[in-house]
Amino acid sequence: MTHYRPPEGRPVSKHLPFGDRRDAPWYGQSIVSVRQFTRSDLEYVFGVAHEMREMVGRIGSFDLLKGKLLANLFYEPSTRTASSFMAAMQRLGGTVIPINEVHYSSVSKGESLPDTIRTLEAYADCIVLRHPQMGAAAEAARVARKPIINAGDGVGEHPTQALLDLFTIAMELGRYAPSRGLALDGLTVTMLGDLRYGRTVHSLARLLSQFGVTLNLVSPAILKMPEHIKDELDKAGVTWREADSLEAILGQSDVLYVTRVQKERFEDEATYLGVKDAYVVTPETLRGARDEMVLMHPFPRVGEISYEVDKDPRAAYFRQMENGMYVRMALLAMVLGKA
Ligand code: NCD
Repeated sequence: MTHYRPPEGRPVSKHLPFGDRRDAPWYGQSIVSVRQFTRSDLEYVFGVAHEMREMVGRIGSFDLLKGKLLANLFYEPSTRTASSFMAAMQRLGGTVIPINEVHYSSVSKGESLPDTIRTLEAYADCIVLRHPQMGAAAEAARVARKPIINAGDGVGEHPTQALLDLFTIAMELGRYAPSRGLALDGLTVTMLGDLRYGRTVHSLARLLSQFGVTLNLVSPAILKMPEHIKDELDKAGVTWREADSLEAILGQSDVLYVTRVQKERFEDEATYLGVKDAYVVTPETLRGARDEMVLMHPFPRVGEISYEVDKDPRAAYFRQMENGMYVRMALLAMVLGKA
């Protein structure tokens, strides 16, 4: 397992602010891949996220990260990831430098990613990075002295999304409690849509492979889950099968995780148009699902789930978004040495 700690001899911070817990397990670490998280790490993250949820419910915001500064560096569009990291930081009393439009920054003058990262870490304590290239977060973590949090690296990973997805699955199905831990074994999770380019399903499949789950991978033939991830599932002993239709599978699913066809990753528009409406979940579709199934989507949706589905109690995607803020509060507190 790769630990993205700052290189030896390059201190995380010369002056350790009072109250920082250097011995905290995630202090100063970057979060690049879900591969960094063991089962006990997940329980730790969820425990902190659970506390964050209680605290927000009780007092709204509190000063755990007062004086800390986050740089939000987004080379690709974002609504939820960017704003939930900002909300997370601000609810913990910290502040944010948002760089959403890299076109207006020196990136448009040709500045390299390492230079941009070294610049922002001169001002901020932590950098959240979204970038169109796979491996960009790992590259940033190699040059940075401060923690880098991967908010999506092209078709690679989206680890914080997968953590909030797993937290949502566990909470919705009553499979997590701080006193009892995490019990996800035995679940059947069905992923639907663009499994080839969707980074959220790459990360979530990897995370789920730590548990005794069954995965159904439903996609058009040209949008199947990449071979290297299926190899990882095999190595982890996960039972998985591929299908191009939901019908036979939906009734056995505990979770249906729907994704958008990732238009921006296609080389030609005709191919995109040929698959973009391959699946649409409607109230009729859900008639074939279990009463206690959880319906999820990382959003944005562009037609894969009809709006009429929103009032179905199984539709968990708005709760999923809210969980994103609590999980990101937990991650920020952890890497900044306060949890
Ligand atoms: C996802 C992403 O950016 O990968 N969005 C998100 O962060 N919630 C999913 C998508 O864009 O389809």
